[in-house]
Amino acid sequence: MLHKSQRLTMRVKTTIVYEQLSRARKRIAVMQGGTRSGKTWNILLFFIIKLAYQETGKVFTVCRASLPTIKGTVLRDFIEILLSMGLYSEDRHNKTDQTYELNGNLIEFISADQPQKIRGRKRDYLFINEANELTKESWMQLLFRTSKFVVLDYNPSDEFHWIYDDVLTRDDVEFFISTYRDNPFLSEELVKEIERLELADPEYWKVYGLGERGSSANLIYTHWKPIEALPGRGELIYGVDFGFVKPTAVVGVEIWEGAIYADEIIYQDRLTTPNLADEMLLASVRRSPIMYCDSAEPKTIEELRQYGWNTWESDKSVLEGIKRVKSMPLYITTRSTNMVKEIKNYRWVVDKNGVRQDEPVKNYDHSLDALRYAIFTHLSSPQRTWTAM
Ligand SMILES: Nc1ncnc2c1ncn2[C@@H]1O[C@H](COP(=O)(O)OP(=O)(O)O)[C@@H](O)[C@H]1O
Ligand SMILES: [Mg+2]
Repeated sequence: MLHKSQRLTMRVKTTIVYEQLSRARKRIAVMQGGTRSGKTWNILLFFIIKLAYQETGKVFTVCRASLPTIKGTVLRDFIEILLSMGLYSEDRHNKTDQTYELNGNLIEFISADQPQKIRGRKRDYLFINEANELTKESWMQLLFRTSKFVVLDYNPSDEFHWIYDDVLTRDDVEFFISTYRDNPFLSEELVKEIERLELADPEYWKVYGLGERGSSANLIYTHWKPIEALPGRGELIYGVDFGFVKPTAVVGVEIWEGAIYADEIIYQDRLTTPNLADEMLLASVRRSPIMYCDSAEPKTIEELRQYGWNTWESDKSVLEGIKRVKSMPLYITTRSTNMVKEIKNYRWVVDKNGVRQDEPVKNYDHSLDALRYAIFTHLSSPQRTWTAM
């Protein structure tokens, strides 16, 4: 806790998102927005200020679809904000349970893929980060156990969603939209990068630039369904798409009874081959299943092989590969947040006359490429085997 005198001199910079929340009087605030509009940062800031200086004895839950994503995003922002305010103390942070004690309040970070936590303790305040990744069932469970105030944030990439149908229609909801233009803390380069979307991909621009609801027009994969976990009964293979500035994606793929089950394992940029090998070990990626890799990088394929994985070059035929993936039922685990985000944005190129081309927009495709390499190469070529030495 800060002394009163310090409190008076503390200047925390906020954005319009913070002001909207401060003025909100209803039980639920829905913060829809484009990319980097300041949603997550200012929602966290709002609750941190409330709990550090104004209230005590409260429980505040922050929830997202999967635990690994929480650690890399919203929890990281939370710690960064506390640090910048001189409020972070390591001994208040229980890293096993992902809880933090702030001025006699308990703050917990939970993921929707842990049902026992969703059905766990009651709380006063709730923030669901990237709420469109959650199922309606998780939403209902969380709302049911929250007594005071609920905030949701998301990019509206879906054309249809329970948020639009079941949340925005309630009379105890306040709705706000923000865009990158509402966030004065972005660098000029980042702003330019976001504005380039307008020409590169108009649909993406609508959602991530303007914060407006997306449409499913020209989406490539529309047949997929979410699933809690891989069935663990079929044949397991892996697909890998290499990146560096862009993310490297490792996807586990199970083929069972004619259907594809996909699970995002790694999705991270700036990984060297030794870094990638470390991440694969951490994620318990197995050595024996066949691993189909981006054939543009034979050196990396060989390096991973020397680390002991069963790597093979993949067949990268784009259209044939997409056709193959589209020809089978496709289930994606709910923890695969990046893959799900990609698949909701993976579109055919449309020319200036509105005519669809036989070519996907080359973006938001890293985990989907990994998936395609695995499925198409595995199902279209003679089976390869690997023998342990
Ligand atoms: N009040 C603020 N003070 C300082 N930096 C901020 C503030 N609001 C936003 N930012 C910066 O802008 C970035 C993007 O904001 P963020 O909340 O993550 O956007 P969104 O969740 O809408 O995508 C943050 O990572 C942070 O660096
Ligand atoms: Mg955010």
